[in-house]
Amino acid sequence: MKKIIVCTTLLLTISLRLSAQSTTNQMNQTSYFKNNAFLWGAASASYQVEGAPTADGKGQSNWDEWMNRYQVAGKGVNGNVAINFYDRTQYLKDIKLFKELGLTSYRFSISWPRIIPTGTGKVNTVAIDHYRTFVKDLKAAGIEPVMTLYHWDMPLELYNKGGWDNRQSIEWFADYARVVFDNFKDLVKIYVISNEILIETDMTLQAKSIISKENAPFSVIPAPENLATALNQFNHKLLAAARAAKIFHTYGIPQGEAGIAIPLFPTIAVDAHSAKAAEFIDGIVNRWFLDAIYKGSYPQDILEYAAEHRLHLKIGAADAKEIGEAGLTYLGINYYAPLIVQKNDAQPGFYGITFPTLPNTDYAYNGANRPDQLKRLLLRMRDEYGNPAIIITENGAGFENDDLLSNGQVNDARRAGYIKAHIEAMLSAKREGVNVFGYHVWSSHDNLEWIAGYGRRFGMIYVDFDTQQRTVKASAKEYGEIIKQFKSLK
Ligand code: FCB
Repeated sequence: MKKIIVCTTLLLTISLRLSAQSTTNQMNQTSYFKNNAFLWGAASASYQVEGAPTADGKGQSNWDEWMNRYQVAGKGVNGNVAINFYDRTQYLKDIKLFKELGLTSYRFSISWPRIIPTGTGKVNTVAIDHYRTFVKDLKAAGIEPVMTLYHWDMPLELYNKGGWDNRQSIEWFADYARVVFDNFKDLVKIYVISNEILIETDMTLQAKSIISKENAPFSVIPAPENLATALNQFNHKLLAAARAAKIFHTYGIPQGEAGIAIPLFPTIAVDAHSAKAAEFIDGIVNRWFLDAIYKGSYPQDILEYAAEHRLHLKIGAADAKEIGEAGLTYLGINYYAPLIVQKNDAQPGFYGITFPTLPNTDYAYNGANRPDQLKRLLLRMRDEYGNPAIIITENGAGFENDDLLSNGQVNDARRAGYIKAHIEAMLSAKREGVNVFGYHVWSSHDNLEWIAGYGRRFGMIYVDFDTQQRTVKASAKEYGEIIKQFKSLK
């Protein structure tokens, strides 16, 4: 009897494997990735570049409110002008530069409060027309549009109803996603449903802390007192993305792709004593998302921590399963740097963990310059998560004093070196079988770096924020050369 049960389980496993495989194969035949060359792109996000906060009937977002009313990035620092990218006269010049550099894709976000000014209900067709024109302009330049539905600018009315703390946010977002697919299905194939669930929550916590004058510093890992709020938000945002992916599939867009962009941080324990701490941090920032998407469950160690510390999680028993079944067709990875983890019992306030810097290491604004960790991360996706299709949706860096404009030139050698080394690491992982199909530098232009303001430049195109004058940096030219070399890569 026992034997029979074992056999049936085995058969079931085999047939499940086969059916999962045939679904993948079926997807592959109609997939964009299967049928097109590698995407060589750059990325940006609506609030960081567009300006025009009230143009064409746009509603206000949480960021408009935080920046203008509460000045969370400092006096007069806001996205009211940014790099003027909503203006067609301006962005056409930028698209011309993209074309000259040889970009084959461009990742940008559309603004939810432009499309549905009050978050739910009436759709603003002027905004839809604007983005349809933008997409057509990209395509006319031979550039594939990679459209992010949500890069952190939430309609203020919804934010005021609790935003992502409110489980209803799943429905609000699903309705918005339907509007987007309805209006762009004929033009856009590749969708990034949402951007960096984790960092958005971190930023929201920081903005709130600035507004309440507590001024807690930004932290990638939510502090213990914020962990319940963070995990609940992550769950809502993942469910919202899952719902959007299911809706996406009902449209049957030829060669359509829908994924989410998550930031991944390989963890490095400084010593053997810190290994468990690194594992725990990995659970919060990486496995929480990857396990839900690829295994349909949340990581047991984090759930146990939550239970032990009596965190008030509002996570339904079937939530992670629903996320696992959403059918996201690829994973968008935003990679900047690893996290260096040290068990430090002298710091009980932060899980008994600190994050030291590495000696003899080049540091960018977003952390250690470690291309080897990008390769490690990609191999992990191959080995632990079933080798899904991947697009690098963001990778890039900003360094102190690397962006000095002199005689009409910006020789950002450190950024150029960072980009080149990370592309090499990615290509090496690809040669070892990782299914990576695209790479996007963050960012095409210098822009508004959220609460850090305009001082932190990440662009390959320098922007004079007073005159809107653009200067193509050395990194852009080098990237252009790399693209030329690998243009027909599959
Ligand atoms: C990422 C964000 C992006 C930009 C880069 C530097 O976390 O997705 O908007 O701020 O960092």
